[in-house]
Amino acid sequence: MSLKKIGIRAAIALAAGTAALAALAQPTSGPQTGIVLRNTVTGETLDVSQGKEGGRDTEAVKTFLQTGKNLYIDDKSCLRNGESLFATSCSGCHGHLAEGKLGPGLNDNYWTYPSNTEDTGLFATIWGGANGMMGPHSESLTPDETLQIIAWIRHLYTGPVQDAVWLNDEQKKNYKPYKQGEVFPKDAKGRCKPLEE
Ligand code: HEC
Repeated sequence: MSLKKIGIRAAIALAAGTAALAALAQPTSGPQTGIVLRNTVTGETLDVSQGKEGGRDTEAVKTFLQTGKNLYIDDKSCLRNGESLFATSCSGCHGHLAEGKLGPGLNDNYWTYPSNTEDTGLFATIWGGANGMMGPHSESLTPDETLQIIAWIRHLYTGPVQDAVWLNDEQKKNYKPYKQGEVFPKDAKGRCKPLEE
């Protein structure tokens, strides 16, 4: 290849690179997020800036929206809150231990929507709803409260540990299926402040 041709190719590559950078630098509407949350049934993109106010500037929500990882998993202070939020918003239909009632069980490894195996999928189902009685909870729960509920649902899990993709290796080693009767002290230490009464 002649030097001239190489020069032209380089110029084209450079131009393409600049165009790509310019596209990246375009301002976007709404906050920039690392993960895309989609409605479990319709696949429509969910806008986390909408819905109940507050509960968006926590480290856990920021981390989740970037990486899909839920920092509240296994955190006792968040489980204490999640238990109470689940009792108010979910247990009437899904059962006290998420064993299933009017709505399906959430404590085993069978999912109508396999996306719920991941915390991103579970968030999308809670926030955006599914079919029938499973309405969206975006007006009643903040994203931060939703992560606390997810931590609690994962805590209620009784299925095989190899399907618990929300646990890291250390947590998998310490995994014990949920047994009733455990109590979290009001001042349990961790990332979550007690809920306001
Ligand atoms: C009014 C009753 C009702 C309430 C309240 C309710 N759900 Fe549901 N939920 C349902 C029904 C019914 C379904 C089945 C819908 C479907 O298959 O599309 C469902 C489905 C689900 C699923 C999908 C399960 C699967 O197998 O894939 C998840 C996850 C879920 N609910 C979580 C929650 C959480 C968390 C809350 C509380 C924030 C909640 N639900 C509140 C009735 C309810």
